[in-house]
Amino acid sequence: MLANLNEILPAARKNKYGIGHFNTSNLEITQAIIDGATELNSPVIIGVSEKAINYAGLLQITDIIRGLAKKTSIPVVIHLDHGKDFELIKECIKVGFTSVMIDGSYLNFKENLKLTKRVVDYAHKKNISVEAEIGRLAGVEDNIKSEINIYTDPEEAEIFAEITGCDALAIAIGTSHGAYKYKGKPTLRIDILKEIADRVKIPLVLHGASGVKPNWINYANRFGAKIEKTSGVPDRLIKQAIKNGIAKINVDTDIRIAFTAGIREFLVKNPEEFDPRKILEHSREMISRVVKEKITLFGSANKS
Ligand code: G3H
Ligand code: 13P
Ligand code: ZN
Repeated sequence: MLANLNEILPAARKNKYGIGHFNTSNLEITQAIIDGATELNSPVIIGVSEKAINYAGLLQITDIIRGLAKKTSIPVVIHLDHGKDFELIKECIKVGFTSVMIDGSYLNFKENLKLTKRVVDYAHKKNISVEAEIGRLAGVEDNIKSEINIYTDPEEAEIFAEITGCDALAIAIGTSHGAYKYKGKPTLRIDILKEIADRVKIPLVLHGASGVKPNWINYANRFGAKIEKTSGVPDRLIKQAIKNGIAKINVDTDIRIAFTAGIREFLVKNPEEFDPRKILEHSREMISRVVKEKITLFGSANKS
């Protein structure tokens, strides 16, 4: 069934478990996410980025997600990921998204606050939940490049959440988007998270939370991929983050790697096959496997 963030995240924050946000851009990834979550009876958030919308088409991707969400009994949120533009947010709400993210983290504090408040006022009238972001993640956030990691200031976060009335707040505590997150040892500023969680009582969000584990990289590379050795956010840090106030956890890269590895394995093992359905069916199973691993790690099984 369709839901918004307010129907699933407050309980997660209160009871210290996390709910997975998984990015999609097509039918098979969406099926894999919803099947995996349904099997474990977990609420789930499906993230659609601006680039995913450009790839699949807004109406097409919306109908796929809404169609599959209506067929399952678990809560499924259809959520715009890193929305930067008020017009796109309005369009997404119009076609049936239940939730949006307004990412004004590229703006200064005042401008971010102003834009976020405008979006919240608009969305809340329509029962649409809003995630906002304060602080900046290193790496690439859609088209905006940020070389440094500007950690979220706890006092600013408190003022921002209070004035904007947003429903969930994404914070920067040391993660970054993509596969290559850390040059040295993976770390998270749990000290900053604790301070923010003391001041901000709405659910907190961790972007850039893929694990990018060696077993998945090795699996893809065994079948011809050339993904460099890298490290994502280790499971133990994800658990610490959840214990200290993170309730929504964003994963895209791990899905992409599973998708690619699955296709590669199938094609290498079945060189005579050219039926797309058979090729993608295997890939879909691999994505579901990742989704179930994450749900187990986040502790949201049987919380639907
Ligand atoms: O946060 C970014 C997500 O991984 C979406 O990536 O903009 O390439 O679709 P994308
Ligand atoms: P990853 O690149 O770590 O999967 O992060 C995804 C994300 O934050 C989507 O908003
Ligand atoms: Zn993100």
